[in-house]
Amino acid sequence: MTKPNHAFLAACRLEATPYTPVWLMRQAGRYMEEYRKLRREHDFLALCKNPDLAAQITVMPVERLGVDAAILFADILLILEPMGVGLEYSKGDGPVIHRPVRSGKDVDALNEFDPETELSFVYDAVRKISKALKNKVPLIGFAGAPFTLASYLIEGGGSRDYVRTKKLFFTAPEAWKRLMERLARVTAEYLNCQVAAGAEAVQLFDSWAGCLTPSDYEQFVLPHTRTVINAIAPGVPVIHFSTGTAGSLKHVRAAGGDVIGFDWRVNLDEAWQTVGYDVAVQGNLDPAILYASPKEIKNRVAEILRRAGSRPGHIFNLGHGVLPETPVDHVIAMVEAVHELSAR
Ligand code: CP3
Repeated sequence: MTKPNHAFLAACRLEATPYTPVWLMRQAGRYMEEYRKLRREHDFLALCKNPDLAAQITVMPVERLGVDAAILFADILLILEPMGVGLEYSKGDGPVIHRPVRSGKDVDALNEFDPETELSFVYDAVRKISKALKNKVPLIGFAGAPFTLASYLIEGGGSRDYVRTKKLFFTAPEAWKRLMERLARVTAEYLNCQVAAGAEAVQLFDSWAGCLTPSDYEQFVLPHTRTVINAIAPGVPVIHFSTGTAGSLKHVRAAGGDVIGFDWRVNLDEAWQTVGYDVAVQGNLDPAILYASPKEIKNRVAEILRRAGSRPGHIFNLGHGVLPETPVDHVIAMVEAVHELSAR
């Protein structure tokens, strides 16, 4: 048997690897015809709750793209549904929370639930995926970070300025704290259940943390993200990803994580220097570059690898998820360019 390809896990631990491992956020999704075909037959939540289909969707891009890790097919908002807030993925508008949280009373009215039983379909999928991957590449589990989850609960969906979210922490800091503590607790349990089922690393997505001032991030977000990260089973690498946080990277680093994920708005070398070379990093190609020619994609891959400087502990990724209508051939060209140009 060939040696299992675990360059990804080695890089998480700052160990030298024969080439830079690469995977893509949202590597399973609408840009793939196989996924769109399944979506014509099932709605999104139904796919997430069907462990066989979720496993199939997870494994699909691994084989097709040649990436060095799989990421569980699920969604960061699944954990909100058992809280009783009415989660719906509406056509065109993205996710909607029908009964948003706007006050301390709303926070206290959220259902208490057991993540182990209420989200068991996720762990069933993890077990099926682990089996299907046959140890060829590691499986990454994931969850939303408390702030990004809170912002969905409070805004009721996506938002441009997150004013209601900020209003809650400025006008009702105690309610904010109760909400964040609750989210941190269930998120840690949820991630540890994914680990117990076979996830070999986990990523925390704080996709909307970039709307905050650095000091508000430090005061209202950092302690709760830290709670989640500190609670993850020892030895399991945690990737801490956020976007728009160039001005808060030191605080993001202080919240924790074995790997800090960068978006494309920073230069990888400068950001790595800011967070420190004692932590691994992930990123950070602009997802829009995948619309450009394979030649241009290769140039941009080379630039990021140059900025990483062959230092151990770089995992190549996009700076955010794959965009719809991205040509699959261009994604494959990107993965090949990373492997070819980083071979040591
Ligand atoms: O990365 C992967 O391939 C694994 C699957 C995954 C999904 N969502 C599937 C999905 C992951 C890791 C996520 C994370 C997620 N979900 C985040 C954090 C990352 C990010 O993009 O910032 C956020 C904010 C969400 C919430 C969410 N889910 C939104 C805003 C939307 C609608 C807009 C969109 O991008 O599609 C979703 C739906 C969703 N999650 C889809 C998929 C494949 C599309 C559903 C469909 O088929 O219509």
